[in-house]
Amino acid sequence: MHRTPPRPTWIEISRSALTNNLQQLKMRLAPHTQLMAVVKANAYGHGTVETARTLAAAGADRFAVATLDEALELRNAGIRQAILVLGYTPSWLASDALQAQITLTIYDLATAEKLASCAAAAGLRAAVHVKVNTGMNRLGLTPAETPAFMEALANLAGLHVEGIYTHFATSDELDKRHAEAQFTCFTALLERLAATGRRPPLAHAANSAALLSMPHTHLDMVRSGIALYGLDPDMEQCPLPAGFRPALAWKALVAHVMALAPGDAVSYGREFIAQRPMRAAVLPVGYADGFPRRPRTWGSVLIRGHAAPIIGRVCMDQTVVDVTDIEAATGPVSMGEEAVLIGRQGDAHLSAEAVSARVGTNNYDIVSRILGRVPRLYVA
Ligand SMILES: Cc1ncc(COP(=O)(O)O)c(C=O)c1O
Repeated sequence: MHRTPPRPTWIEISRSALTNNLQQLKMRLAPHTQLMAVVKANAYGHGTVETARTLAAAGADRFAVATLDEALELRNAGIRQAILVLGYTPSWLASDALQAQITLTIYDLATAEKLASCAAAAGLRAAVHVKVNTGMNRLGLTPAETPAFMEALANLAGLHVEGIYTHFATSDELDKRHAEAQFTCFTALLERLAATGRRPPLAHAANSAALLSMPHTHLDMVRSGIALYGLDPDMEQCPLPAGFRPALAWKALVAHVMALAPGDAVSYGREFIAQRPMRAAVLPVGYADGFPRRPRTWGSVLIRGHAAPIIGRVCMDQTVVDVTDIEAATGPVSMGEEAVLIGRQGDAHLSAEAVSARVGTNNYDIVSRILGRVPRLYVA
């Protein structure tokens, strides 16, 4: 570690892993296909600004975020690449987006008109990408509505319709039929728009899973998030190929070690009661860090490369683990020793995917819920 963390729990982000993963993705793309790095939700927990700086230096062409404030954070930190907001931006934020030259996703005329009038008043051009719903049934216009919408946009001076995109619902599944149907629908729309000269220069559809497993969907640009972080788009149906590396490790230092006698209870509600003489270690990490309390917990963490099971309720800032067997095998555990919540310790590995299976969610959820109060340390 290069710096001392300001708290005895922290996340380590490997810049070389991020760079390596970006290169792994880029080598799968045709030279004309751009790579948009998806750094929403604090870069899936990896830290927005430093992750974006690392990926920009490694050759990311553009960035995508979920909200305008995520985009402004990047702009204010000096990121110069184009930044697309993927989510809903209310029209009262149009002027802020325009001033910072942030690209908005649009799918309704009122927002487009507001943006165009702000742009005209400021003597600027507002770049937008149009969102089309081909079967995810989340944001976007239907393919049938899109041609007329594109015509309407063409009449709005000050608007630069740079892109058009759709999003797959099932590209991470082995059964690609729905994703293929979405893609067919999208390419038919693109052809229709091209025939009237209204196809924007950047058409994009592929997320990480499609980038890796549906290369014919790359079009002009791909939008990749999870694979950049070295995490599987789906643990079973779309694992990453060899060559990717997880970029994130989560560590904590043992805050206290104690003996428990049979009958002693641990933590709020006295849910765990020792049945034998035990040794327990306290970790300075809890649910207000993104270490879940209910309905299912992490299960265990690593200490000395062995699983240390969580006992009793996870608290807001602290968690107790059982180190009885670890001490029996390796000797006393000390205050200040390292525990690994995600990552490697010796020969042992606790992956975000393994944790997500225990918690009953996916790896996206596990890493993006690690809260901002956990310090991020960037290592080579
Ligand atoms: C619209 C859109 N595009 C791209 C992505 C990136 O997806 P992934 O992280 O699976 O590569 C997301 C993430 O959820 C998204 O919402």
